[in-house]
Amino acid sequence: MNLLIHPTERLYGSTAVPGDKSISHRAAMFAALAEGRSHVRNFLPGGDCQATLGVLRGLGVAIDELSPSELLIDGVGLHGLQEPAAPLNCLNSGTTMRLMAGLLAGQRFFSVLSGNPQLIKRPMGRVAEPLRQMGAQIHGRQGGKLAPLAIVGARLHSLDYTLPVASAQVKSALLLAGLYNEGLVIVRQPGPARDHTERMLAAMGAPIGVLGSVVTSERPKQPLTPLDITVPGDISSAAFLLAAGLLAAEARIVVTGVGVNPTRTGILDILRLMGADIRLENQRQEAGEPVADLVVQHQQGQAPRLRGVEIGGDLIVRAIDELPVLAVLATQAHGRTVVRDAAELRVKETDRIATVVAELHTLGAQIEARPDGFVVEGPTQLHSAPVWSHGDHRLAMALTVAGLAADGPVLVEEAECIPDSFPGFERVLQVLGARMEDS
Ligand code: S3P
Repeated sequence: MNLLIHPTERLYGSTAVPGDKSISHRAAMFAALAEGRSHVRNFLPGGDCQATLGVLRGLGVAIDELSPSELLIDGVGLHGLQEPAAPLNCLNSGTTMRLMAGLLAGQRFFSVLSGNPQLIKRPMGRVAEPLRQMGAQIHGRQGGKLAPLAIVGARLHSLDYTLPVASAQVKSALLLAGLYNEGLVIVRQPGPARDHTERMLAAMGAPIGVLGSVVTSERPKQPLTPLDITVPGDISSAAFLLAAGLLAAEARIVVTGVGVNPTRTGILDILRLMGADIRLENQRQEAGEPVADLVVQHQQGQAPRLRGVEIGGDLIVRAIDELPVLAVLATQAHGRTVVRDAAELRVKETDRIATVVAELHTLGAQIEARPDGFVVEGPTQLHSAPVWSHGDHRLAMALTVAGLAADGPVLVEEAECIPDSFPGFERVLQVLGARMEDS
């Protein structure tokens, strides 16, 4: 499926975005480990989270989908998962594979985690290696670094591990393994990776300790309590709408109910540095997470004059999934934007440094790859051209936003990956006034 996007001057309206991807994965997995029935609302019905549901079902967990975004999950308890009869298919979802590797390492059975061709190229040594240090038996291609991963359940022992890169997926895998270990798991983080796992497991009664950047987990003494939650909207999805609003000549967009956990709001800080101010209204707490409505608003002739920024360090970790759309904004900002310390982008769904640079080049942007990021000179007028998503949902959406600001139609090829994280993206943009159609 291809999307044809036409330049759009005005965007108006109020919309929600689907549930947060990271929180949805965790809600399903942790609910499966609780004793009793969990109720999860605003679950992300995207491809990645469907992969998690499929894996949990393969482990014997009963999940009743009242609707694609409302689930009843019958927790089987920490020791109630069953040996799967077939390999567990994580589809395209790195979060599913890495968190499940941690969860499965300490079970009493054998399991295999596999996925689609894109996922089985992504590095799994980063979870397998520290899990092996705990006694896990994990085998895979290339000396255990690539999926499929074969996991022989084992007795796990203590671990004191410093993450070489700030990764919430690796941290979460180790914390989950910690629920099955005979001592204490200590994870030391070099940066502020998202903390949804710590918040949710602690709220369920698991013994999770947080002291600054050090997180610990150990075997719970009581069963985990079931969840009754409404997943906040995904700020990583909201970012595309905010960016579209900032690039429009005239806009008033309200994105309601968005999770604004400080480990996720790097994009708001970056936009502020660029000269745009996104208003947070109606701030509240939901599911143990801060939530707000995000507003971007300006009249004709008063769009913020975006300026180039230099970003690196902790800000990158807090905005890692938003860097493709930041690159698009940078093409319209005045001056030079430099993104560094972002080598992690090279091991996402695609090598996002290479793919973002290649596709924005095609649209006429002045953008150059660096080993750990990219440099953009702006502003440049983006031109009408066909571009390719490379099967990467966030690249497809970033290119759609670029299309709204181009001087003629932009065709985004292979856009069917968008629902991996944002089902309904096209419809939401159309409702806001964007001119786009399937082609
Ligand atoms: C995620 C963590 C991040 C992020 C990914 C989701 C999570 O990856 O890029 O989209 O849910 O834990 P890393 O942990 O590899 O940095």
